[in-house]
Amino acid sequence: MTQLPGLLDVEAIRKDFPVLDRVVHDGKKLVYLDNAATSQKPRQVLDALSEYYERYNANVHRGVHVLAEEATALYEGARDKVAAFVNAPSRDEVIFTKNASESLNLVANMLGWADEPYRVDHETEIVITEMEHHSNIVPWQLLAQRTGAKLKWFGLTDDGRLDLSNIDEIITEKTKIVSFVLVSNILGTVNPVETIIRRAQEVGALVCIDASQAAPHMPLDVQALQADFVAFTGHKMCGPTGIGVLWGRQELLEDLPPFLGGGEMIETVSMHSSTYAPAPHKFEAGTPPIAQAVGLGAAIDYLQSIGMDKILAHEHALTEYAVRRLTEVPDLRIIGPTTAEDRGAAISFTLGDIHPHDVGQVLDEQGIAVRVGHHCARPVCLRYGIPATTRASFYLYSSPAEIDALVDGLEHVRNFFG
Ligand code: ALA
Repeated sequence: MTQLPGLLDVEAIRKDFPVLDRVVHDGKKLVYLDNAATSQKPRQVLDALSEYYERYNANVHRGVHVLAEEATALYEGARDKVAAFVNAPSRDEVIFTKNASESLNLVANMLGWADEPYRVDHETEIVITEMEHHSNIVPWQLLAQRTGAKLKWFGLTDDGRLDLSNIDEIITEKTKIVSFVLVSNILGTVNPVETIIRRAQEVGALVCIDASQAAPHMPLDVQALQADFVAFTGHKMCGPTGIGVLWGRQELLEDLPPFLGGGEMIETVSMHSSTYAPAPHKFEAGTPPIAQAVGLGAAIDYLQSIGMDKILAHEHALTEYAVRRLTEVPDLRIIGPTTAEDRGAAISFTLGDIHPHDVGQVLDEQGIAVRVGHHCARPVCLRYGIPATTRASFYLYSSPAEIDALVDGLEHVRNFFG
């Protein structure tokens, strides 16, 4: 078996993930390389979810009975775990949402309904990038349409990085918010956060970071990042679906208006008006995703028991190996950085003129799960003149042997299509 420096003990880790034992298609061992879409869940998270429902299930912040108090303690305990995981100065800066898309929509709507100095209107500009996931494009398009604000973006270089050569023209005195992805879900690029934030701070713009493909894979420190908002989702980091996070700076969360109204986000309500609870509750209308938050807390415990720096080193070693091996496949073109430098463990590629859907299907027949399509980042495909890509993405339980299986599988695809 190929050994690489920095690898985790994959065999031991895989014992925690029951689904990785699956065989598919008449006895083919599952090779799960679709981790950027969603990660698998360890037994520890599955147990936390069933234990929650078997022993504690109740609504939170509402009841005086034992179960309600215990459920509230578990839910708020999960908030503490998230706050520690991202090094938030305060637990009140952690808002639970249902996914990263909802977190990003929440920021766009906060700013759309805000008073000065935060309000986005027809005299102001919003800045994003061409490598965003649709969840960090569409909410800003909606906001721009509603307010008349101008939407601007950074383009891409041929090697899959942000073109920041015109940074002073893109981010100007009119910019209210700069929202960009830390690690691209399609290109794998890790973006130069400091350069962008420095320019945003010069002009007094807020900064929102989509960390969906970063939080699962590397240490995340919101204080070191110096952003104003950071969004990510639970299901890509060993947690359940249905739980996302928006971290926001406390003074902003105090000043900005809520987006969704309903139960538990209020202080008082009369038939004429309402006042709101302090953050984070102001932004969590209705019954929240309680079990899912508890599951996310268990996922964080699990990841921290291994160590985010060790997970990063493992994936870096795998990415180096994968880039090297994939580069050897004839007719394969990596869409994105072709070295492991400043790149995450999602690798998109095309294979000659074989359509990615055909590549994905033939790989699937061999038990290899990848994602094909535009990966909810269609402007990237348009930029590089391709309809779609095949994407392999790795996680803490991925092994060099699985990369070898992918490379063999691609050889099979090439033979199949002549
Ligand atoms: N955002 C997820 C992906 O990139 C779904 O596949």
